[in-house]
Amino acid sequence: MDWNQSYRAFVLAVAQNPWVQGLVKARGRSFARRFIAGDTLEEALRAVEELEGRGVHAILDLLGEMVGTEAQALEFQKGLIGLVQALKAVPHPRYISVKLTQLGLDISEDLAASLLEGVLAEAEEAGCFVRIDMEDSPRVDGILRVYRRLREAGHTRLGVVLQSYLKRSEQDLEALVPLGTPVRIVKGAYKEPPQVAFQEKRLVDAQFLWLCKRALERGLPTAIATHDPGLIEEIKRWTAERGIDRERFEFQMLYGVRPKEQQKLAQEGYTVRAYVPYGTDWYPYFSRRIAERPENLWFVVRSLVQG
Ligand code: FDA
Repeated sequence: MDWNQSYRAFVLAVAQNPWVQGLVKARGRSFARRFIAGDTLEEALRAVEELEGRGVHAILDLLGEMVGTEAQALEFQKGLIGLVQALKAVPHPRYISVKLTQLGLDISEDLAASLLEGVLAEAEEAGCFVRIDMEDSPRVDGILRVYRRLREAGHTRLGVVLQSYLKRSEQDLEALVPLGTPVRIVKGAYKEPPQVAFQEKRLVDAQFLWLCKRALERGLPTAIATHDPGLIEEIKRWTAERGIDRERFEFQMLYGVRPKEQQKLAQEGYTVRAYVPYGTDWYPYFSRRIAERPENLWFVVRSLVQG
């Protein structure tokens, strides 16, 4: 395991400690705001306008995951439908991300599939694209099954995510090709054991490039979701060399991370989208951001100490 992976494993383990959770929830809010557009939909829509002013489109994400009851899942479905309805009034590309554990995947796949289908009905009417985020490895099969089921039922404005740290992702990509699946390629944000995931950054990066290039070669609409300057440059070089149309791929980054680079890529003529999370259930998302980057941990500690 290299240093980056050890750091991530450590932070994600500490983040589950109830005492740490209590402290960070009570006092880390102001720092979390750097990555989260706000508590409310109105604040998220303001962030969309601000991004559009800089040539960057938005992916709206209503924060929430791993719900344990059907009532909570239904509540999130209501929130997602409300989000899509609000987007109808927004004169910009409409795009949301959802987590299936937010829609009850841990209760049953049928529940998650039927609640997502309700969101899709609304999204299709609004011309809104829906991306199913990828979660931790025990849930990958279930998420891909629900995707496949809905895709085969005729929902085409729908895509999934593959994580380059997972050893299985090459095979998953091949299986998604016949469906013409829009894919987002990411490195992966969860704590995963060496049995299923590469632990060295250079292997994760190598598979990231392989997946992006393979997806493009196989004609899939591809979202290249990373902040890594070396990987972004390589994709720019490789796609230009092969004359791959810029309509066929886009760059995606997270709200609050490398905003100048986002704008610069947009000015260079690439489609760029920022993932804009909002809502009150921000702690798990925020923990993953801290686990990605030691500098972020330092900012949190400082804001906790300063109060
Ligand atoms: P990594 O963290 O290895 O960083 C590489 C380099 O990028 C750094 O050395 C630095 O140069 C630069 N960099 C990174 N963060 C920076 C910062 N804060 N400021 C300045 N420079 C920085 N994960 C998942 O498991 N399931 C999912 O569905 C998604 N969805 C998703 C959507 C989108 C749009 C994005 C961008 C990411 C995700 N992720 C995700 C998260 C993803 O798996 C990953 O954890 C993060 O993108 C961080 O990895 P990087 O690719 O940026 O590289």
